[in-house]
Amino acid sequence: MRDFLIAPSLLSADFARLAEEIRDVTAAGADWIHLDVMDNHYVPNLTVGPLVCAAIRPHTRVPIDVHLMTMPVDRLVISFAEAGANTISFHPEASLHVHRTIELIKTHGARVGLALNPATPLAVLDHVIERLDVVLVMSVNPGFGGQAFIPETLEKLRVLRERVDATMQRTGRALLIEVDGGVKASNIAPIAAAGADVFVAGSAVFGADNYAQAMGAMRAALAQMSEANEALAEAR
Ligand code: DX5
Ligand code: ZN
Repeated sequence: MRDFLIAPSLLSADFARLAEEIRDVTAAGADWIHLDVMDNHYVPNLTVGPLVCAAIRPHTRVPIDVHLMTMPVDRLVISFAEAGANTISFHPEASLHVHRTIELIKTHGARVGLALNPATPLAVLDHVIERLDVVLVMSVNPGFGGQAFIPETLEKLRVLRERVDATMQRTGRALLIEVDGGVKASNIAPIAAAGADVFVAGSAVFGADNYAQAMGAMRAALAQMSEANEALAEAR
């Protein structure tokens, strides 16, 4: 079975106590910290820039997963890489030269992800998928936390899973499927079964009183799904 990673999104954290929130969620078992960067241009909301990424970097040992919802993209890539971002994902619609942006991120030592909106077809992966480390599948329209998971995402994940597996076989490199938006303990199992490896969760983690319990419920649902799948595979 695949390894599953949980990436709490700081968008739903208390920004007045960011360092404390990051330390708490790391202690509670976060695998990655997801940082949503919004510019009030590509999406109708405004969050944080590289200064905040650099400021939080010393407060956690886990990878910082930067999700750029900005247009243009390139001028921010360098700043975020220097600010300690481990993965930088961007939306292909926001870059005039997708291949160039991918190479820019890699040149600056970060892992690279391409983020696909709910209506963005998987065809944007043509010609570049072998260069990616992450495909970030948006299961809500980008811009806000706390939205409902869009169910059509499941079919998209199933098709993408096959494509990613075939790509990894060809390249011998890891390529992760990350899902972002509306993920919670009650729907994480079917999302994992459809193909996701990394689960971004903002409101489901930071909206809970106990972060360890919130992520524990997600891991329990994932473990249950894996066991059921293994039992099914054995029975065949
Ligand atoms: C939305 C962001 C998400 C958001 C997810 O544009 O990319 O990362 O924080 O929040 P929830 O988990 O509350 O849907
Ligand atoms: Zn995000």
